[in-house]
Amino acid sequence: MRHAPTTVLAGLLALAFVPLSSSAQSGVPTWTSDVAPIVADKCMNCHRPGQIGPMSLLTYEDVTAWTASIGMMVEERIMPPWHADPAYGHFGNDRRLSDEQVETVVAWVEGGTPRGAGEFEPPDFADATDGFLLTGACWVLPTTSSGWRKASRCRPAGPI
Ligand code: HEC
Repeated sequence: MRHAPTTVLAGLLALAFVPLSSSAQSGVPTWTSDVAPIVADKCMNCHRPGQIGPMSLLTYEDVTAWTASIGMMVEERIMPPWHADPAYGHFGNDRRLSDEQVETVVAWVEGGTPRGAGEFEPPDFADATDGFLLTGACWVLPTTSSGWRKASRCRPAGPI
């Protein structure tokens, strides 16, 4: 059976107007589809209540209160903090952003931090032990009776 030309035309027009995400429309990354997964993977571990980051970066509202600072810190690679020299091998817990991730975050900041469609649910950190970033047998340092310690030795017992 042949479709009437008007039906085919209407179908084509409908396809042409399938709404694109704001990211695809403007070329600017969005929080929900592009930036939040990076922040969840590389920042939230420290930037959540009770952890060492000075402010929470769990939600769009949290993050957009700090966008200028975040853009600069990410572009300059000050955040996430990572002091190991990549010239000396690869580390399993390397938390640096890839060049592509840096570009995404910077483009998002410069593009006006669009939220994007839907909601991003931050990971559930319930299983993460509070303070786990700096705990482990090697960090428990009993002090002498004078309260001062001259030296200590660290024996890694597992991933931290
Ligand atoms: C290992 C823990 C850790 C990770 C991971 C981390 N941060 Fe931080 N961040 C900190 C700490 C600690 C400070 C406070 C540093 C200081 O005051 O010198 C900080 C400070 C900042 C600040 C400056 C706040 C201010 O007062 O101006 C920004 C912005 C920031 N972090 C963004 C990020 C972003 C974005 C990421 C991920 C790409 C990230 N951080 C990942 C620990 C972390």
